[in-house]
Amino acid sequence: MPATQQETATQWPHRHLLGLAGCNAAEVSLILETAKEFRAVLERPIRRVPTLRGITICNLFFEPSTRTRLSFELAEKRLSADIVNFSSKGSSVSKGESLLDTARNIEAMKVDMVVVRHRSPGVPHFLGRSTRAQIINAGDGQHEHPTQALLDLFTLYEHHRDLRGLRIAIVGDIVHSRVARSNILGLRMLGAHVTVCGPPTLLPHRADALGVRVTHRLDEALEGCDVVMALRMQLERQNLSLIPSIREYHALYGIRPDHLRRNVDMLVMHPGPVNRGVELASEVVDHERSIILDQVTNGVAVRMAVLYLLATAEQRGW
Ligand code: CP
Repeated sequence: MPATQQETATQWPHRHLLGLAGCNAAEVSLILETAKEFRAVLERPIRRVPTLRGITICNLFFEPSTRTRLSFELAEKRLSADIVNFSSKGSSVSKGESLLDTARNIEAMKVDMVVVRHRSPGVPHFLGRSTRAQIINAGDGQHEHPTQALLDLFTLYEHHRDLRGLRIAIVGDIVHSRVARSNILGLRMLGAHVTVCGPPTLLPHRADALGVRVTHRLDEALEGCDVVMALRMQLERQNLSLIPSIREYHALYGIRPDHLRRNVDMLVMHPGPVNRGVELASEVVDHERSIILDQVTNGVAVRMAVLYLLATAEQRGW
């Protein structure tokens, strides 16, 4: 995976990973190059290294998660860290304890790193300012999901030697999507051409200011595109009021087998969880050009790389 076609940083210069907005192409390439080495570790018979022995990590999840939570936990175990898991359900948050008090109590237990997912944008930044732990953003509201974008970039490099000039269409609920925001930043940093496509109600006002091409027509977005990244319709975020119906959404913006027949090289990505029959026809999810499960596999290696680079940055001191 030639992330080295970009300039690659020699060391990680940040204390936290709060978003891709704070990173440059050389730093992103460093994470991807490091992930390549951990990907090889995961192919060995014994998929464990002692790299983070003695480091304690808390996975602090205030929102549901399957992929991010499990892959962070696996990454931490593969690196031999000590782990504590927290979910707001069943914790003292339900008794009214504040976020800051929760974080300070976790810190008092000598936790070195916190992986946090929260419905409110900016929570990882707040924890970074108010605790001594190193913070990794595992998704903050509609703001960023940096490790998802990094694993998406890593997966793209497995299929394309160079992202410069690659044409990616991101389709669906862009306005509510932290995945879209982080991916647009990462893809543009590495030279890809991004088109965003969706109904006007699900695109940000002045989406073109993000440096992307904007269209409301799916056929136009998919014309000549190398990869389509479909986004989940966030039904829990009341999007139903923003579209006439799920059936009409699928008819206008769902990726179907005929789209794959018309564009015979196009790969299909999705961050998950997929609403089958909404963003993607079920046959498309299971199609040989769907690389959705590769994205999941790569999530472990990419998160190992992030944890490792943050730990080495901390050892150098601040
Ligand atoms: N892609 C993603 O963040 O999935 P989860 O919500 O299952 O973690």
